[in-house]
This record gives sequence, structure tokens and C-alpha cells, in this order.
Amino acid sequence: MPQSSSIHVAIIMDGNGRWAARRGLPRVAGHRAGAEAVRRVVEAAPDQGITALTLYAFSADNWKRPPGEVAALMRLFARHLRTETPRLVENGVRLEVVGRRDRLPAPLVAGITAVERATAPGGRLALRLAVDYSARWAIGAGVILPDVDLLIRTGGEQRLSDFLLWEAAYAELYFTDTMWPDFGAADLARALADFRTRQRRFGGLPEAAAG
Ligand code: FPP
Repeated sequence: MPQSSSIHVAIIMDGNGRWAARRGLPRVAGHRAGAEAVRRVVEAAPDQGITALTLYAFSADNWKRPPGEVAALMRLFARHLRTETPRLVENGVRLEVVGRRDRLPAPLVAGITAVERATAPGGRLALRLAVDYSARWAIGAGVILPDVDLLIRTGGEQRLSDFLLWEAAYAELYFTDTMWPDFGAADLARALADFRTRQRRFGGLPEAAAG
């Protein structure tokens, strides 16, 4: 099976809280550093052959976190979308937010609408941000994204946590102990290099045996 030249990478961005705790900082400082990592990875992705990037920013289960942390995350998302819009437009990135919107704060929903409209012409990278996202919910609602080629999870855990369960049916999985705020272009390149060594058979036989 030839390797696809257009790669859909999905990332479970884990480890912000532990990154902060190790530095004696509040969890929200980890999320702020996580937002910097998002910027680095979005900017590096197109040059590494990635045409679609889906990032798990907030799961439907993350509402269980303390209200202060949830509110800080919502503000951070809104601010990040606003401040990043010009760079996204400049870099040809089309941003779409996937997940439920009816439980999000109104200013964030307005910000999402604005950034989606402004970046709609972007053709270099399809960036999807999963916010209040649950794969079980999405499957039930019939909201299905393109198949994922490579699914990365940072922060050392090895589970899917209700992210893209349908779309990752044949995804290659890559787990790293690197905490999300420390993740950058070189880490992304390492994950892709590993991905390119994988033999994807989709249930068929290896090419040599298929004749
Ligand atoms: C997981 O780390 C991270 C989140 C639940 C939030 C994701 C948010 C960001 C990456 C920052 C902002 C993103 C954007 C798009 C601006 P955790 O808090 O579960 O870490 P822990 O497992 O170490 O506690």
C-alpha cells in the first residue's frame, strides 16, 4: 500500500497540568504553554506533509474539571482563536471547530464563527479543533471526519479517551512521554518518521505477498 502523500494527523494533547506541576506553577500556566505548542505545531505541520490536523482541545468529559480551570480554558481558547486568526489566514490554514457548541460560552461561540469565516479560503492545512468533543456523541450525530492516518498522544498515557473512534479505525498510533507544552516541530517530525516506517495493510497482505 503506497504511503499517502496527504496525511491526516490527530493529536491528543496531554500533559499540560503535569508540566505545570513540575514547575510549581498553576495548571492554567500549563494550558498557556500548551497554546504555544499548538501554534508551533500548526506552523510546522504543512512543511512536514500534513494536510489535515485535528487537535483534541477539550473533551465532553473535561466539564468535570474544577469550574475555575474550565473557565480559564474557555477564555484561553477564545483569546487564542482571536490572536491567531491573522497568522492562520496568512499561512493558508482553514480552521474548523468540531464538537458541541450549545454548552460553550457565547463569546467563544462568536469567536469560533468569526475565525471559521475568516479562514474559510485557506487551502494549505485543514485544522480542526475538537472542543466539547466526544467521539461517541459525534458518531451518534453522524458527524464524521476524514480517516486519520496517524494518531499521536503526548503525556505518556496510552488510550483514546473518546477521540475520533470511528475515524481512527486504521490509524497508526504513536504515544510519547513528552508533555504537550514541550512538544514541537522536531517531535512532530519524529512521529512522522516513525509513521513512515509502518506498513499499512488495511487488513490486506503486505505488497510482497500479495502477487
Ligand atoms: C490536557 O492536559 C490538556 C487539556 C485538557 C486542554 C488542552 C488545551 C491546550 C493544549 C491549550 C490550549 C489550546 C488551544 C487550542 C488554544 P491535562 O490538563 O489533562 O494534563 P495532565 O494530564 O498533566 O493533568
